[in-house]
Amino acid sequence: MTGRVLVTGNSSGLGRGFTEAYLQRGWQVYGVSRRGCDGLDGELHDVTCDLGDADAIAPALARLLDGVERLDLAILNAGVLGPIRDLAATPVATLEEVMTVNVWANKRILDWLLARPLPVDRVVLISSGAAVVGHRGWGAYALSKATLNMLTQLYAHEFPDSQLLALAPGLVDTEMQDELCDPARTDATRFPSLERLRAARGSAAMPDPRAAAERIADLLPTLQERPSGSFVDVRDL
Ligand SMILES: NC(=O)c1ccc[n+]([C@@H]2O[C@H](COP(=O)([O-])OP(=O)(O)OC[C@H]3O[C@@H](n4cnc5c(N)ncnc54)[C@H](OP(=O)(O)O)[C@@H]3O)[C@@H](O)[C@H]2O)c1
Repeated sequence: MTGRVLVTGNSSGLGRGFTEAYLQRGWQVYGVSRRGCDGLDGELHDVTCDLGDADAIAPALARLLDGVERLDLAILNAGVLGPIRDLAATPVATLEEVMTVNVWANKRILDWLLARPLPVDRVVLISSGAAVVGHRGWGAYALSKATLNMLTQLYAHEFPDSQLLALAPGLVDTEMQDELCDPARTDATRFPSLERLRAARGSAAMPDPRAAAERIADLLPTLQERPSGSFVDVRDL
């Protein structure tokens, strides 16, 4: 099967992995990021946009998806980590910055799809195990992913003809892990959950982005019976 897929955050990491995987499968890929994504074979349409800029999102999507009448899949993947820090030491403004990209940008994209209207068969919102496990130091990120899970559940009611899934991709060896696994940048003594990530890096427990994306692309057709709004962790499959 081929189709059309929107991928946000496709300039690096998992989003670039999805872009490569779906292009390889003959899909048309519509990508959004600040840095852009190029140098790939296949039908890639790309727009640069800061998803943290509320006013930039609708015009960028209108440019990118001009003439597209339906999407088979949207993978809302763009995300930021924010600081690994005690919540008491994290200003609300920092929490708001992370929420803007990890949650509200996705709300804006979903609202745009509804308003256009641009039908989409399936929307996968990239969540995290941190949505449901509150390890010390993961405040901004964990709050944003927990909210993303509920956003998915709530929007499922408003997209009656689509399947929405919040999906935790498992550990993936990306730029996000550069920070989490660097002792100079994050302190595993204070935040012990980082030790598990550092031990996993370089092992099969933390695949590279392309391998992780291929696995998820293979798994998605098997998830068709999941109720819309569900949270799925690929490590449970
Ligand atoms: N890596 C893991 O182990 C892991 C585990 C669980 C969940 N996740 C989730 O997987 C998703 C992808 O993360 P990753 O690990 O692949 O990290 P990454 O390599 O840092 O990729 C993040 C992507 O998001 C885009 N992005 C960030 N801020 C943006 C903004 N303001 N506007 C537009 N695009 C923006 C980045 O593009 P630009 O910088 O070009 O804008 C980049 O393409 C995230 O939602 C993350 O929470 C990752």
